[in-house]
Formats: sequence, structure tokens, C-alpha cells
Amino acid sequence: MNHLLAKSVMRRLISGGGSIRSASPAPALTIFRAVTESATARRESLVYVRGGGVELMKRMMSSEAVKVTEEKKEVKEEKKKSESNVVVSSYWGVARPRITKEDGTEWPWNCFMPWETYQADLSIDLGKHHVPKTFLDKVAYKTVKLLRIPTDVFFQRRYGCRAMMLETVAAVPGMVGGMLLHLRSLRKFQQSGGWIKALLEEAENERMHLMTMVELVKPKWYERFLVLTVQGVFFNAFFVLYMMSPKVAHRVVGYLEEEAIHSYTEYLKDIESGAIENVPAPAIAIDYWRLPKDAKLKDVITVIRADEAHHRDVNHFASDIHFQGKELRDAPAPLGYH
Ligand SMILES: [Fe+2]
Ligand SMILES: [Fe+2]
Repeated sequence: MNHLLAKSVMRRLISGGGSIRSASPAPALTIFRAVTESATARRESLVYVRGGGVELMKRMMSSEAVKVTEEKKEVKEEKKKSESNVVVSSYWGVARPRITKEDGTEWPWNCFMPWETYQADLSIDLGKHHVPKTFLDKVAYKTVKLLRIPTDVFFQRRYGCRAMMLETVAAVPGMVGGMLLHLRSLRKFQQSGGWIKALLEEAENERMHLMTMVELVKPKWYERFLVLTVQGVFFNAFFVLYMMSPKVAHRVVGYLEEEAIHSYTEYLKDIESGAIENVPAPAIAIDYWRLPKDAKLKDVITVIRADEAHHRDVNHFASDIHFQGKELRDAPAPLGYH
């Protein structure tokens, strides 16, 4: 039909008669183009409906489906965003105060506050070693050296992974010791001399080492399983040991910390040699240890190693107090490092 219409328009234009007659050829050409273009378009659409109606329907449906999925995605993303920004309303008057950094930006961490951050003491003597003299010291030392063998075999020089896994263990003794001293303080109506706080601070500091390492190394499923097993065994074993002999328990931790210093020194050697990439420090580490904004992995490992040296000294000191036949509360706890 459109083809016939175009033909009749052509005929009329050529004959020069009819209602579409024009004084000049240009408007006539425009009308001709308009008519043929619309006719072609309609023809194409007709052909499409006749020959591929199903195709067209499919295409329309699939574009609708894409639209719906995109809309769903957007709704999901919006929901996620709003969930992450959600503020749990409380009528108990419990609210986190608005805390800002020195540059005026909001403090991003809920797990630690600006007043809990510190600068590690990098001048600490890393090579200090408690020479085992008594029988119990030797038992503690040999136990730690024995424990190192399977660790070396399993991790070899994968120091990132090794540190992450060992920090899951390192954060246990402080918590066990702190908890038992807390209960003792309640039972005996006695002050602890600050040792409850000192040991709990150590546990928290070790946990922050783990929170930092986990930003750098993602644990695999079997490593998570290993942590579960090791924690189950180590927590109970250390709990029993601390109940039986706190002096041996602290000595064991002192030697474990000496091993941790050694491991982190090896880690730093691999960073310096280029075997491990000196990646930028995680944001959590920069804020926790008050590191410069452009700090690198090497800086983070250096401050963690200094912390381990501090733990070494605290635990050997605690063990020495017991060896002198005294209780921890008789010597004021070395608070204020963390
Ligand atoms: Fe640690
Ligand atoms: Fe430590």
C-alpha cells in the first residue's frame, strides 16, 4: 500500500499536477523523501512483524527482563548502602560520641578509639634473651622450641600467613591470664596491682596484630579450620598451665615472644630483599600505630615486632616475680605502653 502511495506521489510530481504541485523542486523532493522514508520504515516493521513476530516479542521481553534485573540490582545496592549506614536507635542513652581525627574527618574505627592508639617503642632491645637456668625454665624453653618445628614445616617462609596464624594463638595467653587474675581478685578481695589490665591490654594488642595481618593475607578455609582446632587445644592447655603454674605459663609466653621477634625479623628480611612486596600499610595499622599516611608493610612489621619485644619483657618479668616467691600484685604492672 505504501509502495502504491509512493508511486502515485511520484507520478503526480512528474506530471506536475495534483494537490502536491510545487513552484520549486526542492519542497517536492523533501516531501518525496519524507514519504519514502516513512514508507520504508513501516515496510521494515511490517516485514519484521510478519516474518519474525516471535523474534520481536522475544527481544521486547528480554529487554524488559534486563530492565527488571537492573532495577533489582539497584534496589539491592541501595539496601546494602543504607544497611551499612544504619544507625541503631537506642532510647537507653547509649550512643557513640562523635569523634573526629586531627584533620577534622570522622574517626572511622569502632573497634579502637584515638586515645587507644600509640607509637611503638622502636628503641627496644630486640636481641634480649632470658637464659634458661632452672629446670622449669628449661622445660618452658624446650617446649617452645619443639612447637616451632611443626610451624616451620607447615609455613616455611610464608611469613604473612605464618604471622596471621600465630597471632590467633598469641592473643590467647593475655586473655586467660587476665581472666584468671580477675577472678582471683574477686575471690580474695584483693587488688591486682594493674596486672589484669596489663594482660588484657596485651591480648587486645595481639588481636590488633591479627586484624592488621588479616587485611594483608586472606585465610583459606583449611587455615580457618586449623585455627579452630589450635584455639580449642591451646586455650584449654594454657588455662590448665596457668592454674597450675603461672610462673611457667609466663615463661612460656616470654619464649614464644622471642620466637615471634625472630619470625618478624625474617619477615622484614624478605621484604628488604624484595621476596615479599612492600605493599602500602592497611588503614587500620596507620591509625592504630599512628604511622605516616604513606607507611608501608615494612613499617607495620617493624612496629609489630617492637610490640612483641615489649610482651617478651612483660612476661619474663611476670615469671621472675613468681620465681622470687611473690605474687604479681606485689610489683606494679608495666601499664601505659599500649
Ligand atoms: Fe603479635
Ligand atoms: Fe606478642
